[in-house]
Amino acid sequence: MTSVLVLYMSKGGHTARISRHICESIETAGGKADMMGLVEANKEGVDWRRYDVVVLGAPVYYGTYDKSVYDFITAHKTELDRKPNSFFNVSVVARTPEKSTVEGNRYMQKFLEFSPWKPQDLKVIAGKVDYPSWGWLDTLMIQMIMKFTHGPTDRSTVIDYTDWDDVASYGRHLLALAEKAPAQA
Ligand SMILES: Cc1cc2nc3c(=O)[nH]c(=O)nc-3n(C[C@H](O)[C@H](O)[C@H](O)COP(=O)(O)O)c2cc1C
Repeated sequence: MTSVLVLYMSKGGHTARISRHICESIETAGGKADMMGLVEANKEGVDWRRYDVVVLGAPVYYGTYDKSVYDFITAHKTELDRKPNSFFNVSVVARTPEKSTVEGNRYMQKFLEFSPWKPQDLKVIAGKVDYPSWGWLDTLMIQMIMKFTHGPTDRSTVIDYTDWDDVASYGRHLLALAEKAPAQA
């Protein structure tokens, strides 16, 4: 049975929820899937041999990714490259069709520029606006980002922009990746 590991970083829980949905869709399609946050992966270690496909997901914070994401990649580039692999990012600008593609999402392009790991497969996923759960400074900053990108600025807004059917189909796509050769042997 094809086994997929979904590694993720998440401060607000939405990328964790996306990772869980990916795992559920893999299991519904007959595969096996585990998810592991980067904190746990760093503390407990990863048994890479158990998996046929490895996936890493990270949300965008202020135009970039949490330092733990690049630190993990730097420490585990060899293991990530050894299996068929994929990277997904989560951002609210990806709610528009033009920023929901790998080419049109500048955060994905930035990742490809700065990451020492060049994933074999990429996915852009729209995240969640959740002003009530954010502190005043984050709220202010994200209101500015939203103003520039014509998104919601009302402080009471909670909008989940994630296309959950598309996330499920990404999960099934990950299973199919196991058939492909890894980026590097
Ligand atoms: C501090 C902070 C900064 C953010 N900066 C951006 C940003 O620059 N661009 C963007 O599209 N979304 C931005 N977002 C939105 C997040 O990417 C989105 O809410 C995502 O779903 C958060 O995932 P998480 O719940 O797993 O942490 C930001 C969110 C927070 C809390």
